[in-house]
Amino acid sequence: SVQAQDAANRFAFKPIQAFSDNTVHVPDGYSWKPLAKWGQPLFPNVPDIDPINGVSVENSNKVFGENTDGMELFVIGDHQVIALNHEYVNNETNLPHNEKGMPKSADDVKILQNLQGVTVMEVAEGEKGWEIVLDSPFNRRIHHNTPMKLSGPAAGSDLIKTEADPNGTDCLGTFNNCGAGKTPWGTYLTCEENFNGYFGSTDPNFAMPEDFKRYGIVAETRYGYEAFDPRFDVSKNPNEPRRAGYVVEVDPSDASSTPVKRTALGRIKHENAAVVIARDGRVVVYMGDDERGEFLYKFVSSGIYVPGGDTSRLLDEGTLYVAKFSDDGKGEWLALTPDTTSMKMDEICVFTRQAASKVGATTMDRPEWVAINPVAIEAYCALTNNTNRGVKTNAGGDEMPVGGANPREKNAYGQIVRWYPENDDHADGKFTWDLFVMAGNPDVHKDTYAGSSNINSGNMFNSPDGMMFDSTGLLWIQTDGEDTNEGDFLGQGNNQMLAGDPVTGRIERFLTAPKGAEVTGMTWSADKRTVFVGIQHPDAPFPDGEGKLPRSTIVAIKRDDNALIG
Ligand code: FEO
Ligand code: CA
Ligand code: CA
Ligand code: CA
Repeated sequence: SVQAQDAANRFAFKPIQAFSDNTVHVPDGYSWKPLAKWGQPLFPNVPDIDPINGVSVENSNKVFGENTDGMELFVIGDHQVIALNHEYVNNETNLPHNEKGMPKSADDVKILQNLQGVTVMEVAEGEKGWEIVLDSPFNRRIHHNTPMKLSGPAAGSDLIKTEADPNGTDCLGTFNNCGAGKTPWGTYLTCEENFNGYFGSTDPNFAMPEDFKRYGIVAETRYGYEAFDPRFDVSKNPNEPRRAGYVVEVDPSDASSTPVKRTALGRIKHENAAVVIARDGRVVVYMGDDERGEFLYKFVSSGIYVPGGDTSRLLDEGTLYVAKFSDDGKGEWLALTPDTTSMKMDEICVFTRQAASKVGATTMDRPEWVAINPVAIEAYCALTNNTNRGVKTNAGGDEMPVGGANPREKNAYGQIVRWYPENDDHADGKFTWDLFVMAGNPDVHKDTYAGSSNINSGNMFNSPDGMMFDSTGLLWIQTDGEDTNEGDFLGQGNNQMLAGDPVTGRIERFLTAPKGAEVTGMTWSADKRTVFVGIQHPDAPFPDGEGKLPRSTIVAIKRDDNALIG
């Protein structure tokens, strides 16, 4: 049975050592091939990226975007369709002729805007391995100008109305799409993380609204949209940034469908959205807010999920909660309601961080992905690191004391917290928790910074970020941290992907990334004989070799014997 708990058989691979080189390594008996690279055509008759001039404005919404991140595979009839995120762009590589890659025209801005967002693409396995199906009707690019709907309690609110959208219901674009999620009804959830970075002010004397501070919205941006696209100039459109920072639902089965921003799930720097159905059929969505000293959230729908039934309001009506972790291994979910926060519902959904501060939630060490165990009632969150823990407050002024699930001052390594909902019900208001692992370096440190007892010289890592469970109940951990291989990080090599056994706590290294890259995003083929893994922002000329562009890439990994892989 796939649920067999025989510890000896849980890892089907021989763990690999740390590497500091410029390629991907996987265990003996496995191999990898690129599936999709930044600038690669998604449609027929579109050229590949030009290594000198980049992608033209005409083609910039017809190619695979930059910086691949969260992804999910959908089986739609006989087709396999991957929806995936393109988190951000490196200006210099996409506008190679501009100083520091800063836009000099509206077309330059459009190139950057088009190379981010979401790709939906059909893939198929042929004699040459996995490839994008170029003439598929599913293929689609969603970018910074794609029409979207706003729904839930903030839709229609004065807080998000603009001159172009006096009803507060129709917006353009999704931003800084980081982690992802998948609903049981076959939609893709793309999560807006560092959306603040796109909105600036051409007027240096413009008085920023008070709420911008907590979200880090400042006059100067590194993308420079505001100079040529007034929608991103907060001195002209002060409500525009309040229309970003949401979980966005995309229907990958219909390339003409309109994505929906689900404001009921809150406005934070969303990492991912991990969905599970509670015992009574309500929909539970766990979500991290990735910033030092921000919080972990949970949405519970009012309605019940009925397979084949109407799912259009499930993510619009419900209650948003924020986590409080007590030092005694217990915890509770604090509801964010007008009663508990003295805020109106639209305010709670737009100023979610401020609402959570009012109820006394626990400031966390940068909550990244949440993963839900499919074979046990428990969930995990990667707390990637927090070098300000115990020494500074967070940007909004909340304190970050050492303790509980965030036990280390100046935490450079990170940890993974696990919680067990009371009554084996993800909708329950209470939980108990423990730490699945504290990352560390036992070669360099002898104290708590050596890491927990399941960390050793052979499996050490820092900065856990992406996490996914496979169908057998193994937890896959992807890192986005320091790859200097020096000092505190000596012996840890490049960023990597490991597998952890929730039952024994054992962790083994499966993959190492090229220098400079993080590993992020993971999904499986329908037959589970291939796993797709994202390699984001390599420094070196990966995957095409010396003299070629470094390209963010999805790799397809298979066992040489074509056996199941998760
Ligand atoms: Fe985009 Fe928190 O990672
Ligand atoms: Ca991440
Ligand atoms: Ca990152
Ligand atoms: Ca990260």
